Amino acid sequence: MPNYGAKNYWDKRYKKQKNTVYEWLENYQDLKEIINESCQKDGIILNLGCGNSVIQEEMYDDGYKNIYNIDISEECIKQMDHRKGDRPELIYEVMDCTELKYEDEKFDFVLDKSTIDALLCGDYSYLNVAKMISEVQRVLKPNGVYLIVSYGEPNNRTLHFERNHIDFTYTVKALPPKDAQDGSRQKQNPHYAYILKKGPNAQQKYENNYEEVILELIEEEKEALKLYGASKDQESDEEDSQSDEDKQLEEEEVNQEESEDKHQGSQENTDDQSKEEGINEHKLESLEAKDKCEDEKQCKNVETVNEQMLQELKIN
Ligand SMILES: C[S@@+](CC[C@H](N)C(=O)[O-])C[C@H]1O[C@@H](n2cnc3c(N)ncnc32)[C@H](O)[C@@H]1O
Repeated sequence: MPNYGAKNYWDKRYKKQKNTVYEWLENYQDLKEIINESCQKDGIILNLGCGNSVIQEEMYDDGYKNIYNIDISEECIKQMDHRKGDRPELIYEVMDCTELKYEDEKFDFVLDKSTIDALLCGDYSYLNVAKMISEVQRVLKPNGVYLIVSYGEPNNRTLHFERNHIDFTYTVKALPPKDAQDGSRQKQNPHYAYILKKGPNAQQKYENNYEEVILELIEEEKEALKLYGASKDQESDEEDSQSDEDKQLEEEEVNQEESEDKHQGSQENTDDQSKEEGINEHKLESLEAKDKCEDEKQCKNVETVNEQMLQELKIN
């Protein structure tokens, strides 16, 4: 099963999916109303785990110019920075969302589209989510909004918003499921928008309770890993070091970079170059909707296994 919680997994995936767009769960049109209600056009925005989605580009075109996009995958950020083209104010930075490098109260709005889902598929999942939400709380301005878009239902998401070290009030919106892409009359899985607003006691709750919450989660998840096997990160590291596919990917990448360099060299200072380099959306392949459903299903399965481990541990 893919390890959606591991940096390695994403680096590899973005190498494979070079020059593609993959929009998890919902696009800007689906979320526009919620985003417009939650954030002014001149607001400062943080997009957590941006991936190779186009939502920040569509938001930019709609008037949001101050968008900081971060991702743990260097490969992803390299590609996205290259794709910036004629949207120069978009910022892309490699960063771990559980350890943000930004100062306190910098942002008006934080967007998390399925990044929480990815974290919940990794080791120390609850711990990492608790850290990420704490970091979001820290970098949000008073009354700032944190929008989480997730496939996760309220009964396994809201517990993360109610921990003692954070102060958020929240509302939940079920987003209308889209039609399935397989010709059947079925609908895709429902997704949810969790709209969290930073409360007045954030600092105090953090100071009083952060350490205790984190220590408790570390203990729980350490125990789960001990009982249910080695860290998936380690497993995937071992797999990765043995993988021929990886070597092949690296070779392909070097070849591609060399040919891109030559290509750029020959075109230098021509008007065409900026068009070629820019976000030429028409050239970017979009992945099939069917693959996306599959991906979401797999991600959900990994998360369920993680959750069962933690629950069984509590029962024992
Ligand atoms: C499910 S994808 C969502 C991508 C994008 N937000 C979208 O909606 O299409 C999760 C993204 O989170 C990134 N990610 C995973 N763990 C992360 C972490 N600790 N810090 C920052 N980004 C992370 C992955 O590299 C991946 O791009």
